[in-house]
Amino acid sequence: MAPSAHNWQEIDIYAVLAEGAYRYDARAHRLLLVKAEDLRQHTGTQNFVATALVNLVYVADFVRMSEAQDDERGFLAGADAGCIAQNIYLYCAGSGLATVVRGLIDRRRLTHALGLTATQCIALAQTLGYPGPEA
Ligand SMILES: Cc1cc2nc3c(=O)[nH]c(=O)nc-3n(C[C@H](O)[C@H](O)[C@H](O)COP(=O)(O)O)c2cc1C
Repeated sequence: MAPSAHNWQEIDIYAVLAEGAYRYDARAHRLLLVKAEDLRQHTGTQNFVATALVNLVYVADFVRMSEAQDDERGFLAGADAGCIAQNIYLYCAGSGLATVVRGLIDRRRLTHALGLTATQCIALAQTLGYPGPEA
């Protein structure tokens, strides 16, 4: 249910958990191990990310955005990532989970932690967890 501009399908979803970081292979519907270490603390600049159940990271691969203008790649990738994030919000709302989409990311640090290439650009991240007692 997530559209993408020009059907570029340029957003890869990384799932960063305590046991490791994975890339979601949507076609095969499986998680591929990227790093078998806890990288949660690198997924954002806010304290809660380090202990959250799951941090998703939406990574655009600019190589897939063929014929895009240089000045439109960033915001189209951001819009595409936003569509995915909204789906996650709806899923969480229906499943009793809490979530927040995040732009506060040290992108240089997270790029390094995940071993991303020069054409991969981190659009957004999103934290999922169980609601706190105040919710
Ligand atoms: C593009 C975008 C980036 C955001 N970045 C952050 C962020 O880095 N950290 C955070 O705690 N919340 C972030 N938010 C969440 C908003 O602050 C939040 O949705 C707003 O305060 C309303 O709160 P609610 O979603 O709980 O109703 C972001 C929201 C959007 C749409």
